[in-house]
Amino acid sequence: MALFQSSTCDIPIAPQVPRHIAIIMDGNGRWAKQRFMPRVVGHKRGVETVREVVTACRSLGVEYLTLFAFSSENWRRPADEVTFLMDLFLKMLEHEVSKLHENNIRLKIIGDRSRFDDNLQRHIAEAEQLTQHNSNLTLTVAANYGGRWDILQATHAMLRNRPELASSFTEEDLAPYLSMHYAPEPDLFIRTGGEERISNFLLWQLAYTELYFTDTLWPAFDAAALNLAIQSYQARERRFGRTSDQLHMNGR
Ligand code: IPE
Ligand code: IPE
Ligand code: MG
Repeated sequence: MALFQSSTCDIPIAPQVPRHIAIIMDGNGRWAKQRFMPRVVGHKRGVETVREVVTACRSLGVEYLTLFAFSSENWRRPADEVTFLMDLFLKMLEHEVSKLHENNIRLKIIGDRSRFDDNLQRHIAEAEQLTQHNSNLTLTVAANYGGRWDILQATHAMLRNRPELASSFTEEDLAPYLSMHYAPEPDLFIRTGGEERISNFLLWQLAYTELYFTDTLWPAFDAAALNLAIQSYQARERRFGRTSDQLHMNGR
């Protein structure tokens, strides 16, 4: 199956097990608050959920897992929480990357990294380089990421590279410049924590993704909760604009 299949230019094959799962990991602060603990305890506990979900995805045969860790709007939070999250990100890169590499996992970071300090930027570049040829699972962490930023940066980069496209360009022209150009569009989107919104996540790529919302807070999400989301996905009919009858005639 072609990697760069677009849900609007082509009719993609809907896989039984999602090839690509994208998750908004929400509810860390509320999880901690329910336990009368500072919000940041929830962020720390959330890292354990990341480990469990990565392991579960590998054993299910999911090829791409994309996690929203920090949005372009999360800078609006109190400074001490932002600092804690940056430190946690750095610690994750310092301590987890060797384990990811041993497990043949490729790590990618998407988002505007120019706002991160030099040390964090260096760790990101090194982690991506170390794991770039791994083939078991591609784990993408979206950090200082925004869907609108992504579309704008892609457009700017495309026009810098190919100024002749300024008067007219196609989806196919733009696609290679989007942050997730290396992955198929997500089959399944999960948001934990009860909110039912996209919060400026993968705006372009979620065009035909199946959306799943759960009240479970991210630190309490686990392999069983992931299985429930996948079961919900498997019960859906992905029509990509066609009628149900057409799907049955084509046998899919
Ligand atoms: C998600 O949990 C983590 C980040 C946005 C970094 P929250 O911190 O948003 O937790 P709630 O939504 O306040 O419970
Ligand atoms: C979305 O969660 C971003 C991440 C999980 C990184 P938020 O908690 O920031 O989203 P809103 O503000 O409730 O929409
Ligand atoms: Mg939140």
